[in-house]
Amino acid sequence: MTNGAGTALISDKMNFSESVVSEYLKNRYIFLSEVDSTNEFCKSDSVEKDCIVRAMRQSRGRGRMGRKFFSDDGGFYISYCFFPENLRAEELLPLTGLCAVAVLQAIESAAGICPSIKWTNDLILSGKKICGILAESVLGDGGKVERVIIGIGINTNQNAKCFEGELSDIASSILALTGKGVDEDALLFALTGEMLSVYSVLCGKSGEKQQYIDFYRSHCETLGKNIKILKPSVAQGKDPREIYLEKPEIFPLAVAVDIDDCFGLIVRYPDMKEETISFGEVSIR
Ligand code: BTN
Repeated sequence: MTNGAGTALISDKMNFSESVVSEYLKNRYIFLSEVDSTNEFCKSDSVEKDCIVRAMRQSRGRGRMGRKFFSDDGGFYISYCFFPENLRAEELLPLTGLCAVAVLQAIESAAGICPSIKWTNDLILSGKKICGILAESVLGDGGKVERVIIGIGINTNQNAKCFEGELSDIASSILALTGKGVDEDALLFALTGEMLSVYSVLCGKSGEKQQYIDFYRSHCETLGKNIKILKPSVAQGKDPREIYLEKPEIFPLAVAVDIDDCFGLIVRYPDMKEETISFGEVSIR
């Protein structure tokens, strides 16, 4: 099934009604003018129940692998924080891929554009990164997940000048690329509906993960490409989502072959051996 923009719809996902999303936003939405990082805010004692934290700017926005995330005025910086009742750390593996699909669909519905996905979860428009996602967790006793925090940074309405210099080759905003600004209220609404659906799939309450995987595959620009793999070391006892680029191992040659059932990237090395990469990053050569 496809919609007007050519995107396959995920037909049996839990679609939360407008009134449920409105009610959720009314009770759970915190909008700050400035914060260090919305993900850090969600990890703090200020947050005790499921909530959404958005800020107009972040003084210490964080990206994956210990990087900074440029977070000046004009972008859309938000974290969804959930307190699952009964989820174990290993069940979080598909989270990143599910979120990439959710954010893509929300952007498509609010802005009428269809970005592609660069594995694992960067969204790309006209060759430039317009969105990054940082999914983290806080673990409690016995590997039980206490909190799931999904931080999303979307380059919505920054003007082109914000991406001058070294960023200009890599990133841009939807406004700079399309000449059209994004209605952030519409984006917030669409994104919240999508994230509630993802959370319900993650908790096994509804929806079909396979449809998200099919959607991901059909929008993943990494597949079929020659890639370089950046495989960071995972610190002992750390959530693999908090990996840092201390001792990255770089494998210069591989082809991205497929996406597995947990959104891992199946790669083939020149000696024809295959491996599934679950964490890390790739660059397309
Ligand atoms: C990446 O591309 O490496 C991930 C970027 C994630 C950025 C978002 S913005 C909202 C949330 N707060 C943060 O500090 N980071 C995430």
